[in-house]
Amino acid sequence: MNSSSFCSLPLIAITYSCLLYLVSARVGEFTPGRRLLDDAHHKPSINIEGYMSNYELENAIMAFGERCSNISRIYSIGRSVNGFPLWVIEISDNPGREEPEPAFKFIGNVHGDEPVGRELLIRLANWLCDNYLKDPLADMIIKNVHLHILPSMNPDGFALRKRGNAKNVDLNRDFPDQFFATNDLEDARQPETKAIMRWIRRIQFTASASLHGGALVANYPWDGTEDKKKEYYASPDDDAFRFLASVYSHSHYNMSKSKEFPEGITNGAAWYPIYGGMQDWNYIHAGCFELTLEISDCKWPNASELSTLWEYNRMSMLNLVATTVKTGVHGRVFSVDTRTPLPAIIDINGINKSVKAGRLFADYHRLLVPGVKYQVTASSPGYKSKSTTIFLVEEATTADFILEPETNNAGKIVGSGCDCSGNYKNRLEMVDILAHPQMEISMVIIVALAFLLLLYRRKLCLSFPKHRQALGSKRPTVV
Ligand SMILES: *[C@@H]1O[C@H](CO)[C@@H](O)[C@H](O)[C@H]1NC(C)=O
Ligand SMILES: *[C@@H]1O[C@H](CO)[C@@H](O)[C@H](O)[C@H]1NC(C)=O
Ligand SMILES: [Zn+2]
Repeated sequence: MNSSSFCSLPLIAITYSCLLYLVSARVGEFTPGRRLLDDAHHKPSINIEGYMSNYELENAIMAFGERCSNISRIYSIGRSVNGFPLWVIEISDNPGREEPEPAFKFIGNVHGDEPVGRELLIRLANWLCDNYLKDPLADMIIKNVHLHILPSMNPDGFALRKRGNAKNVDLNRDFPDQFFATNDLEDARQPETKAIMRWIRRIQFTASASLHGGALVANYPWDGTEDKKKEYYASPDDDAFRFLASVYSHSHYNMSKSKEFPEGITNGAAWYPIYGGMQDWNYIHAGCFELTLEISDCKWPNASELSTLWEYNRMSMLNLVATTVKTGVHGRVFSVDTRTPLPAIIDINGINKSVKAGRLFADYHRLLVPGVKYQVTASSPGYKSKSTTIFLVEEATTADFILEPETNNAGKIVGSGCDCSGNYKNRLEMVDILAHPQMEISMVIIVALAFLLLLYRRKLCLSFPKHRQALGSKRPTVV
């Protein structure tokens, strides 16, 4: 591991404190609002033929949050047309705290009359909680991923037993479209759609999947074509998408054995083109690799089949989430002079799609097909881009980048003259404290810390971090 040091810690600490203060403030906006029951005009409905009613689903989410509070956080991303909160379960060993880890989201019940997903997602959450510290895959996911689960995006449609929301709008046609100006009016969009869009802008998801019913296939972008023809329309990441979809179909009980869809996967436009879909928007605007999963031939099967459907999909769901850690190239991007994380983008030679590094830690998680050589480039405004070539084996690869400022006449680099080494852990711990949303007094602490560190400035210089130690089998490169 390439190791060097820096000395401008107090400055960094203050910068961090401002950043983190903003981050905690943002997290605060997610805090749960009133529950449905608190609204007098809503009456709890009884369960529908063995499926949880919206009221029961809400109770199941709250019960999960209480039972598994050590690994979860419950929050709402908004409300449906009829005022039902759109509850999300976040599962992680550090829920609600930003970490240099991929985030994954599952969205169920996009279409009101496709309720299998919402039931399976509650089972998924409970399975992870029950198997934490027992099952290696549950452990791996909880420790290395922030998994966000929205069991129902369309509770109103569910209550009405129909596809669209309460305003009869198909939510999977309500997103802005890349080819047609269908949903360009922000205000005309449904509250459920707006909630998802806000969510995606706040949390940087590496990948995601929405759950549907009516077929058995893993569908990947593009969903729409430029000329409205029904034909295979490949996105820049077609290979990675086919790989992800295959992870799902081949981990499934029998999805990959489909006669209609080879390998149990399909390009959306090749099946039937749609416009204003959620998956294309995710990939285009957030670099989030989203699949649309059709998980049962029957949209509303008998509730007695739910346990079987859960068993058929369990490994698929787990393996899909795990893929965001187990494959691809991951790392962080730092500035050579201050060792601070940089607002960077990552490009892969030959793939016309950039992926952004995280805002706080400058961590990136770039999904790629294994068994191929890639040239990875990190760029940040005001810095010289750097590239490295990796051969991606089955396992994920780590490549951290240390970028140098673009040279100018002034040319003096702060802190570059220092030559000492120490322990990066100190800094990480400090960041951890600050990242905690409940630390309202972080500003005060940080000013005090900065002052103390200023006093020890000559002794306290920190070495470059060793990233992603938890997954020790990988050989990291620093570029
Ligand atoms: C998968 O199994 C289910 C249940 O046995 C069956 O109804 C369905 O037709 C099968 N699908 C495929 C593609 O084999
Ligand atoms: C890359 O993608 C952008 C849209 O994201 C497009 O405008 C551009 O023409 C593409 N470049 C190439 C070389 O295909
Ligand atoms: Zn659907």
